[in-house]
Amino acid sequence: MRSTRGKHPIELSDIVFRADPRSGDPAEVGRLARSTGFFSLEEVAVAVELIETRMEKGGDSGYHFIFAERSGQMVGYACFGPIPCTLAGYDLYWIVVLDEFRGRGLGKRLLARTERVIAAAGGTRVYVETSCRGQYEPTRAFYERCGYRLEAVLKDYYAPGEDKAIYRKVLVGENTPDRAGEYERSGTQGSGDLGTAP
Ligand SMILES: CC(C)(COP(=O)(O)OP(=O)(O)OC[C@H]1O[C@@H](n2cnc3c(N)ncnc32)[C@H](O)[C@@H]1OP(=O)(O)O)[C@@H](O)C(=O)NCCC(=O)NCCS
Repeated sequence: MRSTRGKHPIELSDIVFRADPRSGDPAEVGRLARSTGFFSLEEVAVAVELIETRMEKGGDSGYHFIFAERSGQMVGYACFGPIPCTLAGYDLYWIVVLDEFRGRGLGKRLLARTERVIAAAGGTRVYVETSCRGQYEPTRAFYERCGYRLEAVLKDYYAPGEDKAIYRKVLVGENTPDRAGEYERSGTQGSGDLGTAP
């Protein structure tokens, strides 16, 4: 486990989760994505476009969100949705945690909540793509720690020398009530059109 020495302790117990988008969310999503230093301007624009599309079209957009807030400020979010023309496959499009909240288990809680919502909606597999660039090594470590397995590497996908990694997690058997203790149970305020996470 990484050290948090030198960082101010941040209490995660007062984090509130919600799924229903609000009018200020596109700006907050943009702020959060920009603050990571991970994403290009083009990628930030895509992140904002997804939440705007969700707000415009609702659940029919295919984009679903879980937002994490502390004292009214968005400190993390996940965006996911069913993969068209697949049986029970879901994509995790984005997951972001504000820099000063990283390494304290918030990403894991967001992802666990996302998986619970997906499982409750009948999803059985979650796919996530990321770059093989060195900068994303922590991101890949995060997915692996959360039970995602590397399924494929597409050579030179993003650019010559920058491969794409595709990870998968099978949810069947992972989100049964017997294992529910691994997941947070309280605090989600609504869940969009995918039903409430158990
Ligand atoms: C990836 C990200 C969402 C992870 O969130 P986080 O809150 O920092 O992660 P957590 O503290 O919940 O860590 C969960 C597990 O992943 C591991 N992990 C997280 N960051 C890691 C790192 N930098 N190096 C190694 N392992 C790491 C943790 O050790 C932990 O394992 P454990 O449960 O065995 O202790 C966050 O770091 C982030 O926003 N990164 C920038 C944006 C990004 O890359 N998003 C994904 C692509 S859209």
